Amino acid sequence: MIPVIIISLSIQLFSHVYLQEEFDYTWRDRWVDSTTHEDEGKRGTFVWAAPEKKFDKEASKGIKTSEDSKFYHISRDIGSTFSSVGKTLIISYTVSHTQKLDCGGSYIKIFEEGFDQAKFSGDDQYAIMFGPDDCRSTNDKVHVILHKGGENRAMKTKIKTKNDKNTHLYTLIFHKNHSVEVRIDEHTELLKDMHEEWSYFPASRIRDSTAKQPSDWDDRPLIVDETDVKPADWDVPEYIETNTEKPADWDEEKDGKWIVPLKRNPLFKGEWKPKMIPNPSYSGGKWEQPWIDNPEIVDDTEKDFGFEKLRYVGIDVWQVQSGTIFDNIFIGDDLVEYEAFVNATWRKQHKVEFPNESTPKKKDDSKSAKKEEKKVEKKEKEGIPDDDEGWEWYTDRW
Ligand SMILES: *[C@@H]1O[C@H](CO)[C@@H](O)[C@H](O)[C@H]1NC(C)=O
Ligand SMILES: *[C@@H]1O[C@H](CO)[C@@H](O)[C@H](O)[C@H]1NC(C)=O
Ligand SMILES: *[C@@H]1O[C@H](CO)[C@@H](O)[C@H](O)[C@H]1NC(C)=O
Repeated sequence: MIPVIIISLSIQLFSHVYLQEEFDYTWRDRWVDSTTHEDEGKRGTFVWAAPEKKFDKEASKGIKTSEDSKFYHISRDIGSTFSSVGKTLIISYTVSHTQKLDCGGSYIKIFEEGFDQAKFSGDDQYAIMFGPDDCRSTNDKVHVILHKGGENRAMKTKIKTKNDKNTHLYTLIFHKNHSVEVRIDEHTELLKDMHEEWSYFPASRIRDSTAKQPSDWDDRPLIVDETDVKPADWDVPEYIETNTEKPADWDEEKDGKWIVPLKRNPLFKGEWKPKMIPNPSYSGGKWEQPWIDNPEIVDDTEKDFGFEKLRYVGIDVWQVQSGTIFDNIFIGDDLVEYEAFVNATWRKQHKVEFPNESTPKKKDDSKSAKKEEKKVEKKEKEGIPDDDEGWEWYTDRW
């Protein structure tokens, strides 16, 4: 008994689970509908529903968009304000498209204190926006947008959504070391330093610009073998005369002066070069200024990476085809707690949808990231508009 108590106490003291929302039958008590768009009849309603395949009649249920071409605005107060500054922050939830979704968002937004749930609309400034956004397949993208320094800052890397009828787990993790990680169905799609993804953030490691190349630095891996000497028989002509006799009917007046034809000398070996040998004083490569911790990052600017007053989670989307189920929202700072929640929720659902999948497939992250980079580069070259432009194009039409 005693060890169990100690363990559970330590979890409570050192880890935080801010929100675990499984959308049981009491969900309406916690979620507030916004009145925005109500008058114009453009506001859609959420219903309590499960995907086609379910691990449990009730536990598989989440909230589902139920009317086509509508706005959806709904939010929940987490109940207390929390800060993610200097901490890990994990945000995850599941999405199941029961419809065939051509165009529609299924992302969530996290808001700081001072947010008016009853008037929630697309104009409300979020702190973090995260999740899939599908439109005409060319614009499918997982958003990670942070409101920092007075601007909404989108992540650089483009991550494809999973646009099928299964239940997919989307996870965003801000690690303490300022790395950002995005997982889909527990596969890491992205793991990068935040300053690489958002140029806004100061680099956590920089080159030491004061460092100078040491005078004895030697970047030549090979050097000339000074003891090597040219063999005495090396120098021979490249071409030598053949044994051809002057033809008997050769007419010097008509054919010009007879010249014996030449051939390549098989003994010719070209220019002699001394042997190269490993350089005993090789320093290991080109000299580079060493990496150091960026001195500009002091405790105070830790704030750049986190949010101080997080409090609400909301869904604010437009859907052309309704039928998306949002479920299993987790917000916390502890990866073990997160895993336990995922095991109790999405993993059970996933087993019903993929009964034959034994162990999770390991993906080569670096490879897929490189592929994505190439694709984005190609698009930029071809002048394909950025997703956000595409999105505006599409929202303007309705
Ligand atoms: C940051 O922390 C995460 C989680 O521990 C780890 O996976 C990642 O490799 C770390 N990044 C760097 C650059 O050390
Ligand atoms: C979650 O499930 C996985 C796979 O079944 C297991 O390895 C892991 O220990 C579980 N994690 C927790 C925290 O329960
Ligand atoms: C799973 O495996 C069984 C037996 O091998 C097969 O009959 C079934 O079609 C498979 N199901 C799926 C969803 O692949």
